[in-house]
Amino acid sequence: MADNLDEGTGMTDYSAITVTPLTPGMGGVISGVDLTRPLSNLEVEELHRALEDRLVIFFRDQPIGHEDHKRFANYFGGIHIAPSTKPWQAPGHPEITVMHADGDSTFVAGEHWHSDMSCDPEPPLGSVLYLHTVPPYGGDTAFANMYAAYDALSDRMKAHLEGLTAVHDAVLGFGGITPEGMVLPRSSHPVIRTHPTSGRKGIYVSKSYTTRIEGIPEAESEALLAYLFDHIKQPLFQCRFSWAPHSIAFWDNRCTQHSAIWDYFPQVRSGYRVQILGDAPF
Ligand code: SIN
Repeated sequence: MADNLDEGTGMTDYSAITVTPLTPGMGGVISGVDLTRPLSNLEVEELHRALEDRLVIFFRDQPIGHEDHKRFANYFGGIHIAPSTKPWQAPGHPEITVMHADGDSTFVAGEHWHSDMSCDPEPPLGSVLYLHTVPPYGGDTAFANMYAAYDALSDRMKAHLEGLTAVHDAVLGFGGITPEGMVLPRSSHPVIRTHPTSGRKGIYVSKSYTTRIEGIPEAESEALLAYLFDHIKQPLFQCRFSWAPHSIAFWDNRCTQHSAIWDYFPQVRSGYRVQILGDAPF
């Protein structure tokens, strides 16, 4: 049992922060911190624990600037600058990606289930998304727990997937969108990855980026991927976050997938994302 857990509400009081769960399986809304200011060592240590427990953590009413955003990300590691997001870098801040949709948009970033930039050889550990402008309703982000999705597989399927690798390709991820200056990486990663700090296994293929399981016949790869893409979408593995202006979501890309729900066209949804350096999946 976590320290100071209220069994009725699921809220956990650490020393400096409070975590209110979104669902039993994942997601926690953090209160008690102000991200427009530097954090104490205790707050940072507790946020690391909260992320490890909840896989994605959320903050409300945090009107952060670009420097606050980068400082927060740096409590968890260096900043990952994905080559493929260059066309959307904030002016003067290559570490920050502009995330914007409005009535002129023909696509939105991250609409289909994925783990961010899994096409990169060392995909980001996590992503910190801040939205300052959101539609009056809609525009939620859905998250899915890849540990739970792995745990729910049969032992036979787990054994079958062990040791397999798959190709993750930005050409698929970006759906044919190739603005000038865009680099489209392709990488091979384990189908089942082990989280470097928790040691737990999770599914690491996604409909957005994964084109093929390597070393098996193409038809077998297609059938297995179709099964896994469908399997990870089960509501039991998920939580869903409803945004308000100045909310922040911080997710661990190594054990979650997410999908940005574009149900608000032609309304505006706008903000910034920073990603944190990760390792090659194993
Ligand atoms: C993303 O995939 O990083 C975008 C998530 C969102 O806009 O909700």
